[in-house]
Amino acid sequence: MKAPATRPAIDQLARPLNSLRVSVIDRCDLRCSYCMPEEHYTWLPQEDVLSFAEIGTLVDAFVLAGVRKVRLTGGEPLLRRGLPELVARLREQSVIEDLALTTNATHLAQLAGPLRQAGLDRVTVSLDSLQPERFKRLVRRDALPQVLEGIRAAGAAGFTSLKINTVVMQGFNDDELEALLEFGHQVGGEVRFIEYMDVGGATLWSMDKVCAKAQILARLEECYGPIVPCGPQGAAPAERFRLQDGTCFGIIASVTEPFCRACDRSRLTADGQWYLCLYAQEGMDLRRLVRAGHPAEELAAFIRQGWEARTDRGAEERAAAPHRGALYQVEDLRQNPHREMHTRGG
Ligand code: GTP
Ligand code: 5AD
Ligand code: SF4
Repeated sequence: MKAPATRPAIDQLARPLNSLRVSVIDRCDLRCSYCMPEEHYTWLPQEDVLSFAEIGTLVDAFVLAGVRKVRLTGGEPLLRRGLPELVARLREQSVIEDLALTTNATHLAQLAGPLRQAGLDRVTVSLDSLQPERFKRLVRRDALPQVLEGIRAAGAAGFTSLKINTVVMQGFNDDELEALLEFGHQVGGEVRFIEYMDVGGATLWSMDKVCAKAQILARLEECYGPIVPCGPQGAAPAERFRLQDGTCFGIIASVTEPFCRACDRSRLTADGQWYLCLYAQEGMDLRRLVRAGHPAEELAAFIRQGWEARTDRGAEERAAAPHRGALYQVEDLRQNPHREMHTRGG
């Protein structure tokens, strides 16, 4: 497909549509307490899950509406069989400037090479603890060795701009910030500390478990001395900082300093529902349209219209709520799995 000369769709708050997160599967092989704390989940019906050809057509349409950055997510995207084929298909879309993946890395040791060969640009790995017992308690699987092997394999496969995402929880892993920074340094990855968010799926969330950006910075300054901001944040959720020794890291402060005013992203679920905000109540059904055979140009017109009407400020609205608790109870999530973070792709 040739580079379209179109301008990106602009929403009601003057935010361009630039980035798309594509969830390729709703399942995951870990059970992180901040995302999947329950025993049982309602999965999307298999027949609803988009084929690679359908995802490809939809991504073409998003590109026509302005998207230049695509991130593959899940659930755990590496559980989707044949993922490198999808990467190769998306790579043909020559105007995608940044094709990335967010993974828990349990299967990265096997897949890093094929994904790199298929043309994936970047990998971001979730890693919340370096202590095997603590890791196991958090994710309810004994998977730390595979994850560490996966991270090393990413470097060996030639992924140079590795990022490591750590959700920091008060009293749980906030004593590991320094160890994680040190690990990031060793493997050539940039660590981003993420505030624990009250998104769908986080039924155990409470404000007192959030380790705020200010606390993260205070703790690190105590250890490393003055920390300076580095570079403009732009539309990226992470604000970047530098230690005196030059080590850079990020903080994603979605809870205490939401960044909705710069939000340029939306998300496609594995079954083709399009959510404009991480906190959105309703999505738009793109599966029906793509399965009805509409070409990318027509889908793009629909997407453009949808984005142009957008007013979402989900995280800012949550921050303004008087008595903040978990967004959903488990019954709400069972009724509609699209409310889950693991379905929406983070
Ligand atoms: P790059 O900056 O392109 O590397 O990626 P990213 O930081 O957008 O992607 P990643 O999947 O690593 O996202 C990191 C975390 O930021 C997610 O897991 C969420 O916790 C949070 N996040 C990502 N997108 C949004 C968003 O649109 N809104 C909010 N409130 N949080 C987000
Ligand atoms: N709060 C913050 N980040 C979360 N993620 C999942 N659930 C939450 C939450 N409740 C993040 C994970 C991973 C990405 C896919 O989503 O850390 O990096
Ligand atoms: Fe964007 Fe919604 Fe996240 Fe705000 S909460 S940054 S509007 S996705």
